[in-house]
Amino acid sequence: MGHQGQNTNSEKTKQTLVFAVNGQRFELSEVNPSTTLLEFLRSQTSFKSVKLGCGEGGCGACVVLLSKYDPVHDKVDDCTVSSCLTLLCSVNGCSITTAEGVGNSKDGFHPIQERFSGFHASQCGYCTPGMCVSLYSALLNADKTSRPEPRPGFSKLTLSEAEKSIAGNLCRCTGYRPLVDACKSFAVDVDMEDLGFNSFWRKGESDEVKLSRLPPHNCNKATRGFPEFLKMATKSGLNMESEGCHWYSPCSLEQLQRLLHMVEVNDGTSMKIVIGNTGMGYYKELDLHNKYIDLSYIPELAIISKDQTGIKIGASVTISKAIETLREENVDGINQEAKLVFKKLANHMEKIATGFVRNSASIGGNLIMAQRKHFPSDITTILLSVDAMVDILTGDRHENITLEEFLERPPLVSNSVLLGIKIPCWKSSTDVSSKTYTKLLYETYRAAPRPIGNALPYLNAAFLAEVSLCKNSAGIVLNNCRLAFGAYGTKHSIRARNVEEFLSAKFLDVGVLYEAIELLESTVIPEEGVASPAYRTSLAIGFLFEFLSPLINIHSEISRFWFDGYNGNFPFNDSKVKQNFDQFNQIKSPTLLSSAKQVIQLNEDYRPVGEPTIKSGATIQSSGEAVYVDDIPSPKDCLHGAFIYSTEPLAWVKGIKLKPEASVDGVSALISFKDIPGENVGAQTIFGGEPLYADELTQCAGQRIALVVADTQKNADIAAELAVIDYDKKNLEPILSVEEAFERCSFFEVPPFLYPEPVGDFSKGMAEADHQIESAVLKLGSQYYFYMETQTALAVPDEDNCIVVYSSNQCPEFVHDTIAKCLGVPGHNVRVITRRVGGGFGGKAIKAIPVATACALAAYKLHRPVRMYVNRKTDMIMAGGRHPMKITYSVGFKGSGKITALKLDILVDAGMSADISPIMPHNMIGPLKKYDWGALAFDIKVCKTNLPSRSAMRAPGEVQASFIAEAIMEHVASALALEVDSVRSINLHTYESLELFYKTSAGEPSEYTLPSIWNKLAMSSNFYRRTELLKEFNRSNKWRKRGISRVPIVHPVMLRATPGKVSILRDGSIVVEVGGIELGQGLWTKVKQMTAYALSLIQCGGTEELLEKVRVIQADSLSLIQGGFTSGSTTSESSCEAVRLCCNILVERLTALKERLVEQMGSIKWETLILQAYMTSVNLSASTLYIPDFSSMQYLNYGAAVSEVEVNLLTGQTTILQTDIIYDCGKSLNPAVDLGQIEGAFVQGIGFFMLEEYPTNSKGLVVAEGTWSYKIPTVDTIPKRFNVEILNSGHHKNRVLSSKASGEPPLVLAVSVHCAIRAAIKEARLQLHSWGGGVDEPDLTFQLQVPATMPVVKELCGLDNIQRFLQWTLGSKQGESAGCPV
Ligand SMILES: Cc1cc2nc3c(=O)[nH]c(=O)nc-3n(C[C@H](O)[C@H](O)[C@H](O)COP(=O)(O)OP(=O)(O)OC[C@H]3O[C@@H](n4cnc5c(N)ncnc54)[C@H](O)[C@@H]3O)c2cc1C
Ligand code: FES
Ligand code: FES
Repeated sequence: MGHQGQNTNSEKTKQTLVFAVNGQRFELSEVNPSTTLLEFLRSQTSFKSVKLGCGEGGCGACVVLLSKYDPVHDKVDDCTVSSCLTLLCSVNGCSITTAEGVGNSKDGFHPIQERFSGFHASQCGYCTPGMCVSLYSALLNADKTSRPEPRPGFSKLTLSEAEKSIAGNLCRCTGYRPLVDACKSFAVDVDMEDLGFNSFWRKGESDEVKLSRLPPHNCNKATRGFPEFLKMATKSGLNMESEGCHWYSPCSLEQLQRLLHMVEVNDGTSMKIVIGNTGMGYYKELDLHNKYIDLSYIPELAIISKDQTGIKIGASVTISKAIETLREENVDGINQEAKLVFKKLANHMEKIATGFVRNSASIGGNLIMAQRKHFPSDITTILLSVDAMVDILTGDRHENITLEEFLERPPLVSNSVLLGIKIPCWKSSTDVSSKTYTKLLYETYRAAPRPIGNALPYLNAAFLAEVSLCKNSAGIVLNNCRLAFGAYGTKHSIRARNVEEFLSAKFLDVGVLYEAIELLESTVIPEEGVASPAYRTSLAIGFLFEFLSPLINIHSEISRFWFDGYNGNFPFNDSKVKQNFDQFNQIKSPTLLSSAKQVIQLNEDYRPVGEPTIKSGATIQSSGEAVYVDDIPSPKDCLHGAFIYSTEPLAWVKGIKLKPEASVDGVSALISFKDIPGENVGAQTIFGGEPLYADELTQCAGQRIALVVADTQKNADIAAELAVIDYDKKNLEPILSVEEAFERCSFFEVPPFLYPEPVGDFSKGMAEADHQIESAVLKLGSQYYFYMETQTALAVPDEDNCIVVYSSNQCPEFVHDTIAKCLGVPGHNVRVITRRVGGGFGGKAIKAIPVATACALAAYKLHRPVRMYVNRKTDMIMAGGRHPMKITYSVGFKGSGKITALKLDILVDAGMSADISPIMPHNMIGPLKKYDWGALAFDIKVCKTNLPSRSAMRAPGEVQASFIAEAIMEHVASALALEVDSVRSINLHTYESLELFYKTSAGEPSEYTLPSIWNKLAMSSNFYRRTELLKEFNRSNKWRKRGISRVPIVHPVMLRATPGKVSILRDGSIVVEVGGIELGQGLWTKVKQMTAYALSLIQCGGTEELLEKVRVIQADSLSLIQGGFTSGSTTSESSCEAVRLCCNILVERLTALKERLVEQMGSIKWETLILQAYMTSVNLSASTLYIPDFSSMQYLNYGAAVSEVEVNLLTGQTTILQTDIIYDCGKSLNPAVDLGQIEGAFVQGIGFFMLEEYPTNSKGLVVAEGTWSYKIPTVDTIPKRFNVEILNSGHHKNRVLSSKASGEPPLVLAVSVHCAIRAAIKEARLQLHSWGGGVDEPDLTFQLQVPATMPVVKELCGLDNIQRFLQWTLGSKQGESAGCPV
């Protein structure tokens, strides 16, 4: 054995892992090396703010601040990391800060947390702690810089840094705008005027006053104390053993070599090299390794060195560090051209993953993933374009090879280690004094659904070229170039050598460009099975065109200027060339939300109702102290469950086997339908039930077959994933489409009372029409909820066959009934408790019931507590989501665009069970009637298929119906060559036609506010002027086209019976229970306000004081029965009304006493009154079931939106330039809450219309399994300018204090974005047609698929649009003399 200082890692030195969490010391002597930091924090500490949103590094819910002390420079490095991927053993010597450590209710909240609440930036709150830590890290790092001191109260953070600080964090509720405002409020360069609606100041106050009202930030306090005990701790790596598994952190290459050798000879053990472990986010290997070798402590791998030959970067250097290094300006000996190349490499790297991933993801790890497993890497592509070299060590053999050679080799053997890379310094080679100007050009590209990162690209590219301009000729010669492409569905990034050779030494002109592109088209070909192959090839062409075309036929004088300052510093501001460069530059540097305006007219009639009161619990949500179901500490002996689901759509289940390796790891039981003591029911609605587990026959891929119960969630998940099901599919023919269901008459019955009535006489309407469109077809897909908190429950057995179930759901009453039925026990044996839900959107209604029931059944059977936190993949597979459908329509219309008749045949895919699907006809026809169709006929069939049962998702049926209505408007306008806006306007209802279509729900004429909203919005959004400007823009821009669209909504909602209970305690504090569940929609806040208002009518003390005294408590299905569903946008108001009725009772009971006391004492305080009431035995608890009467049960909501988009015709990328919304909230109960609902819903709608694909395989099994493939909107995909006006439409006699709903209707307004994209595509198609090569007439009646993703948009704009343009240019004289072709 070696002597001291030569410790090999095979030595059995007992070491401990030491680190701090929020200043608290942790020292562990045994850790399974596969344990993640998140697992440790959530299961072994009280810090539950870190949430598991995805487990893939893709959502930010688990972000923590990781601080490392550098004893050499006596400084602390702070950065964010995703705790779901960071291995616990790798935090040795580090200090971790979670949201609780940033601030909390005991030690005081941090201004970040207070500002998040004050800017109304937390709804369900599940994302908020992660957001808080991300911003905290940004502030900390900015304030540590040597930048000038900011104004008092601000940080050194810039606006752009502030916006980007949360760019990697997902939020499904808020729509991001308020989060961005809260972040910006810290920025040194913020204009207070630009900050959005908040609770700190009122409109019109001066900047000084505003600033004084903000929770103060002291930037000098930025450097937090690093725990002293950690400063002393050893800085060497950790070597530890636990249950036969080892963690090694070698400190030298020699140690590493010895270790690898040891592993090699000791075969049979499995070894894994790790650095950041972020690769697990993608590969999610289930194999457990017995040896982990952490490379972070080997100095040679951490090297960063620079000289005039290039930059060396060690393999363990993180991407963030590499970016920093590449950006450093003050490096001697590196020429300007090389610096520019480095800067562009850094800019590209900044779009890789997210900040918190880049902070731990290493360069080496990325290259190895690309080399060994064909990961679609950005780094390999950009490094390939600059001839990077790599250093490899295998055994004792060192190799220094080109990256290209490295990528082309067979997968590296497991004991090979990548040591580092070298990026050479580039410089143009030609002598400047010769007859030519020579210049090096470098650009990188990526096309991804999110412009600033957190999305893998469809294709990436990087081009390096040396070009020369002959001094006496007007043209450019391309001396040589390197063209790299990757991530398009190829094994690894490639160099397009044939194109490079073809271009080399060529004088660039249109013909050469065309030939190069043709060559490229045959080179960049995705492998078989890759999605959108032709699109990806077209991207390669687009990028090469973007790179080269500005160089063609440039006038010599201009080009000289251009050579002097690359990228558009032209003296000729109006020159065509500049415009063309600008076109591309704007695309390359996307901005985030640049401005937003909120117009709100407060209603002061019922204070504090109507005030923008901060959301109840927002601050503890920000600090992570709010308790969600999975945060409840596990009771003793708690077990964990994971579902085994079917992968076949229709099959007999012959048997289920757990893999032997899984069964050893803590698995206690496998529970299936055979274990059910009562009925096999997992969910039920008035339309029927769904089995908890498939009995002998499974009816869809994704159906629950059994539950694995194990000692930990991880073990349960692994066992479930590895389970093997034996199927028999003989003679079974599944129904996998609505067409098949139609053929086989497989339908769910729709109760007649739910089937809407037609309007008018369709045949007559058709006969009146001048034009007709017959049997046009539309199709719509599904959408997944993507609540940040996946389905979860905890069941605890109680005495005497009773059970308590904590469940995250929107309908405890139904959870309760189902559990009782399944367990075969009386209802009073079950208690379901729901405090808060981390996002629901309909997905935690019916779909949450089986999760709670499965836990209850397992707990009941095993007599132990059982909990379950469904992993994201399983959640996505089982969720069902929104209803897909096929629509066939026939429409008749006049030459003016006035529609006279519409008939719809709709096949709705309901999946395997009824769920709520029979309400779809009702839900669809309501919003569809937003236009006066003349006559309206329909036939809607709810199809039973062998697909997961679809459920309610925010605006279920309504969003599809609104889309259908708009698609028809577009179709009619195209057919008549009319402006679609005029067709919409002409078909809006008059009050008379509204009454005809909506009968009793139409309300009073004065309540029909849509026409005024429609006109008002045209003015406030400058609609007509922008429409004209846009035409001009489209005329003068070839590769970017804009579209604008204004759409209305009429959205019926219905109130349901809702219970409420208000109790006043002896100290005057008030406890409220309501049927509605707090999902993040602010229900509790409105209820609190209503309680304070209604009790204030006793006139004892101020309403603000009363507001402080109210606490709304968790729903408990035994304490308050008949809670019903929280859905349909109206539960807040019905809960408020229930509470108001309770308060009225209490006020009535107290009035006599109060009057008596006032008579005696002159005035009386609330507390005194209540104490006296207690002493005189006044009943201070009142409960009620509010039952809306017929006149107030249904009503219509109105709103309209204008959206303007810009489509990039090279990539199909859409940017939403601006959205303006006006939405009628009546007299809003809380405008801050309603604003949050409007913005959040709209952004969720953007997801549906633009981004979120929820595909299945041929068996109907969902294949979008997480954040890698399912892209919800992020801060860079929302409108750049986002203006919302909440219209206060005054008194509505049948509404709850004149208020109207806001939860779902605004989602539907996102159809405006889709229509605007369509308008932009139309322009692109007209232009394409003008270039010839196609059919005689441009097809302007095309269907634009939902979601309108980049490939979809590009395809409609012409995958070959560049080739068509170049051919046209070549063919036309005008083209030849036109100069630059862009
Ligand atoms: C959410 C997310 C988004 C991402 N988006 C992108 C993107 O857009 N573009 C892109 O290019 N990349 C992307 N990545 C990939 C990311 O860059 C890599 O995961 C990361 O660089 C890997 O580094 P690591 O240190 O975490 O490697 P680890 O996960 O620790 O290791 C990865 C693999 O490499 C092996 N390994 C690591 N270092 C060495 C070495 N020196 N020698 C031999 N073997 C080694 C490990 O054994 C393991 O098999 C993304 C990752 C995540 C999690
Ligand atoms: S849970 Fe870690 S990033 Fe999503
Ligand atoms: S508040 Fe962001 S996910 Fe709910």
